[in-house]
Amino acid sequence: MIVAANWKMNPALDQASVLATALANQSFPQIKRILFAPHPYLVPMSVRLTGTALEIGGQDCHFADHGAFTGDVSAAMLRDCGASLVLLGHSERRAAHGETSDIIAQKITAALAQNLDVMLCVGETKAERDDKKAEQVVIDQLQASIPKHAPPARLMVAYEPVWAIGTGAVASPDDIAAMHDVIASVLAERYGANHVPPILYGGSVNADNAASLFSIPLVSGVLVGGASLDADAFATICAAAQDAA
Ligand code: 13P
Repeated sequence: MIVAANWKMNPALDQASVLATALANQSFPQIKRILFAPHPYLVPMSVRLTGTALEIGGQDCHFADHGAFTGDVSAAMLRDCGASLVLLGHSERRAAHGETSDIIAQKITAALAQNLDVMLCVGETKAERDDKKAEQVVIDQLQASIPKHAPPARLMVAYEPVWAIGTGAVASPDDIAAMHDVIASVLAERYGANHVPPILYGGSVNADNAASLFSIPLVSGVLVGGASLDADAFATICAAAQDAA
């Protein structure tokens, strides 16, 4: 079981330090915990979380190694600042930064080349689900975003329906199970049934619904946005994951 916190562009640094201290004091040895921190916080967070089991990741990286890309960061920069993995293809980046699956594939290649593991986000919009295109959209995102050479042991996939993010409208257990089954089939076709990377759910995960999410088949973890900014809520989610592990 994996519980990943995506802080997005939150919180203020002083609050981040308090939160990191709380996370460092929590112990959930049976699960993998990940923190995707804002880039300027990677160094202070990795210093603060040294010696804990928490893994630290960036929320994006550029596909180039270096160059004239003002405001961007490279995979090597993330690694040098203490990250061991990176979140790529989040719908907020696909929507607000025009990231296509082709660009995301190049970013995955760059991240793997720098020894960063990758959590790839996929998910359909409300309109795509209403049009009954959700499964095809996610299949297309997976096929186009995962480069041919990407080793399954270095990958995780987070299914985040766009309409469930930050809305309180968590997807139904049946819809989550069905989509995780589709994702697992695509990955099994590529890697073989015994090498399917972990598949996480994300979208309005909170302390109240986490336990029920972990009981859904093929849910290997959760990617948590808003609730990860509350140390107690995050601990409750981790405890539910540990119970289910
Ligand atoms: P919320 O948990 O706030 O819905 O965000 C989910 C998400 O986008 C995590 O990457």
